[in-house]
Amino acid sequence: MDKHLYNLPDLESENGEWDERAHSRQGFLRLCFWSVTGLSLTAVGGGSVRFLLGHSLTAPAGEWIEVGALNELPPGQMHRVTYLLRTTDLWRKGELRGVLYAYSEDGSSYTVLSGTCTHLGCNVRWDDAQQQFACPCHLGLFSRQGEVLSGPPPKALNRLETRIENGKLLAFV
Ligand code: FES
Repeated sequence: MDKHLYNLPDLESENGEWDERAHSRQGFLRLCFWSVTGLSLTAVGGGSVRFLLGHSLTAPAGEWIEVGALNELPPGQMHRVTYLLRTTDLWRKGELRGVLYAYSEDGSSYTVLSGTCTHLGCNVRWDDAQQQFACPCHLGLFSRQGEVLSGPPPKALNRLETRIENGKLLAFV
């Protein structure tokens, strides 16, 4: 066995021959130690990096989705639409479910709001009787236009970009 393989100190000549079995055992234990250490560092380090990166590597959920045909979106009514986006990052594939609300005052222009509460991300619900959005998590309230009426939400519901194509309303989520 090559004594330099494990970076061992030179033996004094009076100590006689190398004890190959001792060196093998020592080398084996050293190999085990560094293997376990390396694996542990990889696991902990990889997990930490993944934690720090969070969803920053997730492909942006920028996608046009169909809200509905215009003739199915009568003015004055709030329309709830759910959607599903497929996402990927370096480690995994996932699904992103979302809710949005569309309405039109006059049938010529449309407003589409994200249904995700701006406080901690729960889905808000439209309360037709109260004519407002209510978040079930911490009782945040939003107006029909998405402005904060009360509760902890720090800002209005996100207003989504829209376009009309072939008689259908699309929203960019
Ligand atoms: S998540 Fe909506 S009020 Fe807290």
